[in-house]
Amino acid sequence: MNSTRACIFDAYGTLLDVHSAVMANADKVGDGAEAFSALWRQRQLEYSWTRGMMGKYADFWQLTIEALDFVLQAYGLEGRPGLKENLLNAYFELKAYPDAAKSLEMLKAQGYVTAILSNGSNDMLQGAIRAGNLGGLLDDCISADDIKTYKPDPSVYQLACDRLDVRPHQVCFVSSNSWDVAGAAAFGFNAVRINRNDAPLEYHCAPMKHQLKALAELPMLLSQARA
Ligand code: LAC
Repeated sequence: MNSTRACIFDAYGTLLDVHSAVMANADKVGDGAEAFSALWRQRQLEYSWTRGMMGKYADFWQLTIEALDFVLQAYGLEGRPGLKENLLNAYFELKAYPDAAKSLEMLKAQGYVTAILSNGSNDMLQGAIRAGNLGGLLDDCISADDIKTYKPDPSVYQLACDRLDVRPHQVCFVSSNSWDVAGAAAFGFNAVRINRNDAPLEYHCAPMKHQLKALAELPMLLSQARA
């Protein structure tokens, strides 16, 4: 980790709270809002993998809409006036986690290049970055849509190396998604998982370097690695 030059972050679930869109509309979604949000996220990710593998690529915003259509029908809410629009508007401007900005600020002060590497489309990422006031804290925002495939395809991690002019061993890659952490580790990044809810370890085939409870712990981890 002491050769790290760039700290690259996953966006949805790592810097951005994917469940904040539904939570902001919980009164309209009703009972089971948490399960609704979890199913929306699960289908969104599933579509990115299945659509990619079957050669039917569509960008992440399209998949987010398709996944929401599925969940609204599954919950019998497809006819609720304004609900789909409210949920999508909230998703376009997802809340950043409270420690995201400070952690990015500290990492930049420590001299690291900071960037997002996300399956999100460029438009949705820019919407979230604006909403979270993260723009000035990021040197780049890299969307998998630029090469029309999704993480954990290694070509997406390679895209970040090409864009930032770094080698894999010079990257600390941070994600809350275990499949993304494993994909990054398999590619050769120093992968760090943000595990806020003590989820069990998995993907032992591609082990991470470190696991943290919060983004706020990352600057200390890296400064200790440098010592
Ligand atoms: C991202 C989501 C898929 O790439 O975790 O930001």
